[in-house]
Amino acid sequence: MSIALLYERSENDEAGLKQTAQQLGIDLSFMPFRKIALTISKEGFNVKTKGKDYLETFNQTAVVINRAQSKNRRLQASYIMEMLDKKTINTSQVEFTCYSKLRTLLQLWRAGLPVPKTVFVPCDASDFMKNHNEIHNEVDIADLFQAELSLDDGIVIKADAGTHGKMIMLSKTREELLSNIKETKPNIINPIGVVAQELIKKWFYDLRIIVYKEKGKQPVCHNTALARAGFKDFRTNTFLGNLVFEAKLPQSVLDLASKCGDTLGKGNDAWIFALDAMINVVDNKQQVDEAYLKAQLDLAAQDYLPVQKVKTDETRLTNFSAWNSRLEQTFSTYANSDSYQKVKSVIDENIESNKSAIVFHEANSCPEFWENTRLVTGLNVAVPLLKAAQSLID
Ligand SMILES: Nc1ncnc2c1ncn2[C@@H]1O[C@H](COP(=O)(O)OP(=O)(O)O)[C@@H](O)[C@H]1O
Ligand SMILES: [Mg+2]
Repeated sequence: MSIALLYERSENDEAGLKQTAQQLGIDLSFMPFRKIALTISKEGFNVKTKGKDYLETFNQTAVVINRAQSKNRRLQASYIMEMLDKKTINTSQVEFTCYSKLRTLLQLWRAGLPVPKTVFVPCDASDFMKNHNEIHNEVDIADLFQAELSLDDGIVIKADAGTHGKMIMLSKTREELLSNIKETKPNIINPIGVVAQELIKKWFYDLRIIVYKEKGKQPVCHNTALARAGFKDFRTNTFLGNLVFEAKLPQSVLDLASKCGDTLGKGNDAWIFALDAMINVVDNKQQVDEAYLKAQLDLAAQDYLPVQKVKTDETRLTNFSAWNSRLEQTFSTYANSDSYQKVKSVIDENIESNKSAIVFHEANSCPEFWENTRLVTGLNVAVPLLKAAQSLID
């Protein structure tokens, strides 16, 4: 019995998983989850693409590493695999929680873990009556939000199931709040309601923290995080062009993150999460002058250009291993640059002095890792993923 990688498109993370499995001597098979027919009938189960029958692969699989990219498809994939008696990482129960930011926050909040103040209104911005007349609810929704959150401090409206900073909108005025609420439209991914959150006064960075658990072992939180940093936008996602730095995590943060993992993974033998966290630096006696910091970030952006160039180099598709060596080399030059080290030490110091103000706001169940998390933190997420999968094989 073996481990299968369920995937939609083979990207760098999937190629990285494949390379890592080879290095660890782990047998990994591949399960496409796109343009494939899964059939149930009285004759049993069948699975094939137009060109290939996958039944044998399915029958030989004990554990599925689920890398389907859309949250919907990933949830469906884990559920199907569990119904076919496969173990999954992550399980459909975990996928169900992580699908929704609100569900994730509810679980963390119930366990007493720090989360941003969050308000959910189940009503949509507008409703259509049977006679097709439109009813506008923006004003009422805005009033409900403003009764709990202050516009002076900033109100963040967010898509419950979004990704990559899409539909994360900041309002500082009533007009902005109304128009941001209006932007939220129910769809297949975000079927109901509107979520609002207090604006966390993070400085210029936020954190991505990796926690994981193998069957029969204690949860582990990796001791450094991926910090995404920049002054471009209040959303510091790397998709929005921010830079990445390694951030040292104090023990208290490692303990809290492990608890988050335990809470979200409860009842499951093995799991992995990339937790998104922010530090609410309310009383920041800012350590360095912001002009100095901005200048260092500009220099770091220059030093990062060669990394960006390798990332977009298409040779990764034909010779992944050679491309990866080049990526590692250029990244290491960036990480050793003076500007990188200077920004990194500002972040490390800021986390240490504000560690009690950390809040966790999202858990990603299928994080991308090859190009940022791995290079920055030194943790190749493929290793805990594969080991966690191995731990599930009886
Ligand atoms: N309440 C908030 N206060 C301040 N910044 C926020 C808040 N919520 C989100 N952000 C910023 O926006 C980014 C994206 O938000 P997040 O909730 O992680 O959604 P996603 O990553 O799915 O787009 C965060 O990494 C953070 O930088
Ligand atoms: Mg996020």
